[in-house]
Amino acid sequence: LHVAVLLGGLSAEREVSLVSGKGCADALEGQVAKVSRVDAGRDLAAVLTALKPDVVFNALHGAWGEDGCVQGVLETLGIPYTHSGVLASALAMDKNKSKAVLKAAGVAVPGGGLYDRHQVAREHVIPPPYVIKPNAEGSSVGVFLVREGANRPVAEVGEDSWTYGETVMVEPYIPGKELCVAVVGEKSGPRALTVTDITPTKGFYDYEAKYAPGGSVHELPAVLPANVFDKALRQAELAHVAMGCRGVSRSDFRYDDVKDELVFLEVNTQPGMTPTSLVPEQAAYVGMSYQDLVRWIVEDASC
Ligand code: DAL
Ligand code: MG
Repeated sequence: LHVAVLLGGLSAEREVSLVSGKGCADALEGQVAKVSRVDAGRDLAAVLTALKPDVVFNALHGAWGEDGCVQGVLETLGIPYTHSGVLASALAMDKNKSKAVLKAAGVAVPGGGLYDRHQVAREHVIPPPYVIKPNAEGSSVGVFLVREGANRPVAEVGEDSWTYGETVMVEPYIPGKELCVAVVGEKSGPRALTVTDITPTKGFYDYEAKYAPGGSVHELPAVLPANVFDKALRQAELAHVAMGCRGVSRSDFRYDDVKDELVFLEVNTQPGMTPTSLVPEQAAYVGMSYQDLVRWIVEDASC
């Protein structure tokens, strides 16, 4: 089997994808006949047409690689590829539209909504504390926490350097724990692996906390009331199905332990596969090595 691993790409998460892609390609070496590493650029269709892989392993993150665009190219070329297809990818990348679908499926999502970024820069559009984030980015790129009592919303979203669109998502900040659940979409149905409780070493779970060694502490399985633990597993499976995901996905939650409220943040259709990433760690917990996980993802590929 010849597997082409797509990595890098054109998004703000390029560096993360280079690390995810290297991990996946290294893990496939020796498990399949041939592994090609493709830094995915605008010539992707031509490169793959010349390379003729049997399967594409999509290790891209963020815009273009995670939002249905690359998936559309692969559908057009007729090459089986890993992870979610066009519709689920496009939907999951749009946080606002995802919330509508998840809410309809019975999943509790945060309030708030989309606002003009200049308005957000001028005034508190909802009472602090709240979180400002691009509607379609990952890895906490462009995410700001406006704390209780802060007298001025972040200025960054109003400036020319803001490249994430004219509207931004503003959601009430949910105190408590940051949780995540990996889902493996087996043919017999989705299987949630476990719940991880993530504590950033400092501040909130931002880009640095996600990827710097020692940036966060992961506790798995998370120590939670049994009903909350189970609810997180079931909601992650429900979300995987409602969004139409394929292969692996990862759902992120906040749990307010004072109010005993579990709130669903988002589904990631191209979850990170770096050495500090959460999905490989959950797989290891259930007895699936990084190599097993990557091989399973390849076996699950289709188009
Ligand atoms: N967007 C990053 C890669 C993640 O969800 O893991
Ligand atoms: Mg994300």
